[in-house]
Amino acid sequence: MIPPPPPALQAASGPARTSRQLRDELRQIRELFDQAPGCMTVFVGPAHVVQMANPAYFALSGLTPDIIGKPAREALRRGYANGFGPLLDAVYATGEPRVCRNAKLSVTRYPGGPDEVAYADFILQPLRDADGRQYGVLCQGHEVTNQKLATDELRASRQRLKATLDGVQAMFDSSHDVICVFDANGCFKHVNRHAEELWGYRPDELIGRSYVDFVHPDDLATTTEAGERVAAGAPTKNFLNRYVHKDGTVVPLMWSAVRSESQDSIIGIARDMREHMAAEEKLRQAQKLEVIGRVTGGIAHDFNNLLTVVIGSNEALVEALDSCPELQVVANLALDAAERGAELVSRLLASARSQPLAPQAVDCAKYLDGLLPILRRTISCAIDIAVETPDEDLRCMADLTQLTSAMLNLCINARDAMPGGGRLTLRAERQGASDGGAGFVVLSVDDTGEGMSPQTLARALEPFFTTKPAGQGSGLGLSMVHGFAGQSGGRLEIDSELGRGTCMRLYLPRTSQIAVAAPVTPPPVGQVQVRHVLLVEDDDLLRDQVRRQLTSLGCRVTTQRNGHDALRRLHAENDIDLLMTDIVMPGGLNGRQLADQARQLYPRLPILFTSGHTDEPTIAALRMDSEAAFLGKPYRRGELALKLTGLFGDRPVGTAASGASARATAAIIAENSASTSMGLEITSVMPAAR
Ligand SMILES: Nc1ncnc2c1ncn2[C@@H]1O[C@H](COP(=O)(O)OP(=O)(O)O)[C@@H](O)[C@H]1O
Ligand SMILES: [Mg+2]
Repeated sequence: MIPPPPPALQAASGPARTSRQLRDELRQIRELFDQAPGCMTVFVGPAHVVQMANPAYFALSGLTPDIIGKPAREALRRGYANGFGPLLDAVYATGEPRVCRNAKLSVTRYPGGPDEVAYADFILQPLRDADGRQYGVLCQGHEVTNQKLATDELRASRQRLKATLDGVQAMFDSSHDVICVFDANGCFKHVNRHAEELWGYRPDELIGRSYVDFVHPDDLATTTEAGERVAAGAPTKNFLNRYVHKDGTVVPLMWSAVRSESQDSIIGIARDMREHMAAEEKLRQAQKLEVIGRVTGGIAHDFNNLLTVVIGSNEALVEALDSCPELQVVANLALDAAERGAELVSRLLASARSQPLAPQAVDCAKYLDGLLPILRRTISCAIDIAVETPDEDLRCMADLTQLTSAMLNLCINARDAMPGGGRLTLRAERQGASDGGAGFVVLSVDDTGEGMSPQTLARALEPFFTTKPAGQGSGLGLSMVHGFAGQSGGRLEIDSELGRGTCMRLYLPRTSQIAVAAPVTPPPVGQVQVRHVLLVEDDDLLRDQVRRQLTSLGCRVTTQRNGHDALRRLHAENDIDLLMTDIVMPGGLNGRQLADQARQLYPRLPILFTSGHTDEPTIAALRMDSEAAFLGKPYRRGELALKLTGLFGDRPVGTAASGASARATAAIIAENSASTSMGLEITSVMPAAR
């Protein structure tokens, strides 16, 4: 209902009023003016003299009633200057009203108070007398500061919200995890871009369809259960399942999921686990190899000592039986078998990264060129062999004997993978180091053979893993190469695809050292001038055997069982020409420590270390100077003679044999050939390296 107008206003529209009525009316109007919640000010004349202003105006502006009667320029000062003056002028001059919204004012709400910013809406209307002549301007308005601030705040918070949403969207789009929202039925509502990369389906191919269509059938039951748990309000973490990519490959995923209360949906984040699982698998493999290595290494150590005795004794027998050829054949058979055994042990040690290595700088181009003739003799002519060497001088650090074993193993594997012929390419390339170091040389063996299935590839490095028929593969080739590469500070990488061939890349540390000459033709048979050797070996059988070998090479031998006794002997007399010591010895002083103390007594004393089982740190700690050498067990008398010649640096020592390198190479070729009676010239196969 509309309330009746006040009597004064009713009267205003009625007949002529009495002066009393007029006074009442005026008073009522004045009261209305004073009580009006909005500001009202009346300006008169061209100078806009303030004729009336209500308390609301004073409250907002902070001005006081003493402005009444003053022109606006003087009364309002700051406001007048800040644009209000021209407005008054315009309304007064044109007679047109003006409306201002959200006008920004600077106000002082009470005399002496601080300046504040306020906002107001106001209208300026011309005032006319009874004859229609304009005589002033009425300004009416009200403060809108709170509304204005609230509107501004709302706008700002909308902008913040938008920025946050944009950020969330960007995260959603750029996440390397798949983020998806499922509805209550398990159908995709939203998916981020990564889903397409991971699963091969565009968002529009996923949205509206159920997870059931994409989960690996074997994981459907567990996935449904997990989904139900999340829908019931229990967030899930680290849930593993598999999705099937559009191209059919299986993608393992790890999920975190929560229920979104507000939208009756489930938000899931899925991480691609392929790399992680591959790394885990690699670690498992590495641990397995490590365990096998430790076991193998331990057994091989004892075997080596025994084989050294067997080989040495058989050598002595073969020589002694010169006059009895029938028995010499038997002794030679035993010697061959022992050497095959030694080769097997050596490959086991290589797999276990425990093969004693004597790294040297190898000129890769020359090395590969030298390998070529051996390969041509070993590999059928249905296979094209090419060697691609770089123009630059490329040298790597590697044990030459083991390197040749490794390369032959790789090439023979390639040959076996190309029974119908194909192409075998050997390359040497430089691989830069990311850390600014010398980097690697990559020796690669590339074939166009049958390649490996993913299952074979996964197990190829395992010792004893072979896909070849019984008697044709030992399964020790790649494990040996892998062990050798790791022990040499490099690695073996395999790139293989079924039906397309295989590329094996052997990474070896690059060096700028001058490449040393390859082992030369063994020196002629001879005897050493009599030298006094102090032999330290804890294994009784072995000590006896080596003593006999040294004696047969013309040396005078003093034997000791342990480091302390040997040191005492060295202290007692200065008549030792060479210290030959095992590295691993019980009794508190190992071979290296003994050598260090001996060097303090006799700084230039030649030292020959021997060992059947050396881990990398032991070998690395040997400090091989020009007065020291290393001989891996088991060794033949000829190899011992070569080492002694090297250390004494004068006349050749003893009878020379074919050398460990040739022996190892021959064994590989023999073992990997369809028949060992192929007539290979296996004693001269060491490729040249300079
Ligand atoms: N170049 C190659 N091409 C295809 N398969 C290979 C190749 N090299 C190795 N393999 C696979 O790896 C297995 C292990 O190789 P290896 O350790 O040398 O043992 P072996 O040659 O005695 O079988 C082989 O049996 C073969 O299945
Ligand atoms: Mg092989």
